[in-house]
Amino acid sequence: MELSKHKEGTTRLFVPSVSVSTVPPPTSPVFFNPAASLNRDVTVAISAAEGGETFCDAMAGVGARGVRVANEVEGVSKVAMVDFNAGALRLAKRSAALNRVAGKCSFVGAETSSYLYSRFGRDQRFDYVDVDPFGTPVRQLQAALSATADGGILSLTATDTAVLCGVHSETCARRYGSFPLNNAFHHETGIRILLAAIVRSGASIDIGVAPVAAHSTRHYLRVYVRVLPGASKADSALGGLGHVSWCPACGEVRKSGGQAEVCAACGRRTKVAGPVWTGAVAEEPLVAAAKKEALGRGLAEAAEVLGSLLGANGFPPWSFDIDGVCSELKVSTVSEVAVYRNLLRGGHRVMRTPFEKTGMKTDAGHAEVVEAVEAASREGASREELASGPRSSSRARSSRSGSPPASRPGRS
Ligand SMILES: C[S@@+](CC[C@H](N)C(=O)[O-])C[C@H]1O[C@@H](n2cnc3c(N)ncnc32)[C@H](O)[C@@H]1O
Ligand SMILES: [Zn+2]
Repeated sequence: MELSKHKEGTTRLFVPSVSVSTVPPPTSPVFFNPAASLNRDVTVAISAAEGGETFCDAMAGVGARGVRVANEVEGVSKVAMVDFNAGALRLAKRSAALNRVAGKCSFVGAETSSYLYSRFGRDQRFDYVDVDPFGTPVRQLQAALSATADGGILSLTATDTAVLCGVHSETCARRYGSFPLNNAFHHETGIRILLAAIVRSGASIDIGVAPVAAHSTRHYLRVYVRVLPGASKADSALGGLGHVSWCPACGEVRKSGGQAEVCAACGRRTKVAGPVWTGAVAEEPLVAAAKKEALGRGLAEAAEVLGSLLGANGFPPWSFDIDGVCSELKVSTVSEVAVYRNLLRGGHRVMRTPFEKTGMKTDAGHAEVVEAVEAASREGASREELASGPRSSSRARSSRSGSPPASRPGRS
């Protein structure tokens, strides 16, 4: 296998040359994806902000994450890298030596869940466990929860995004025990379904969890949770589960008891997602500290991902796509700034959603969002009429009345 030295963060890694020249990179004989650097950058920032001492990279591959944590996070004194691919671990070992951190690293050729279950003893658990599989992390959930120290952090990647985001809803129901939605806020629903699966998996072994951070990037969803042992913690985490009812006909959305319903706004049949985690998505002080860590390390995109979560707690578990509302209303696209302003004037909270490419989170209901869009549409139309003079007013009414702002309000 031809190797290259690849730099990520301040760490140099031995990786297969083909992995940096081919998109997507091959999965065998060993796997390394340079495009997942943001995923690892956020891990470095969160573990630096968290300040734990022991880290388990439970599906380490060539050790990109584990070696980076050993090299870039000062307080971490022990990193275990686990993989059943011996060739991948050999590269991890060479990279650890290259960065002079081999002394704090161990390399374990084992099956991830068996290894994690073997570390259930109180003094054997890790302050931080990361699970980064191909596809779904459901197989590893309980093992990973069992191997995380009381109050420690567990992070998981899911690359079965099409399943979690509503393209294959039966598979989602089978794999995660929840129905997804394929709509404008499907990434958020996917993240909240993954969180709900972790909550239920933990609850059955008397472990509660609380989300620390989450993001949806490219082809994967990623969640970080704090592990809080105890039956009462498990019960209160279960209390954060619920359902979301969404009407594909008119876009009305609300929390629901879980049964398919008739839409209160238009009388058609709604779709129901869930159980989903309906509570907070970020541990704000840690996320703010992690954002600072990311900025200090020049990890700008990670800082942006973390910063986008600040302020997101307390909103309902969905977002609105303003262009989508315009299509429902059959009006031209409106200025997003005008919609935000109208909602803020009405006493609502508004921010850009951290989870979708476009969209707005607000505590306003669907009807109020519709009103704010209609008002923005009228304002846009009359502004264009004024600008273009009375003779062209009918043309002005039918043209675009505003473009989405390059930088939207609410983004931290
Ligand atoms: C997506 S890759 C990990 C990438 C790595 N975390 C990184 O950031 O570069 C998944 C890795 O998990 C390993 N793996 C998959 N299933 C496993 C299992 N059940 N036990 C141990 N290793 C496993 C594969 O060999 C592969 O190296
Ligand atoms: Zn409806």
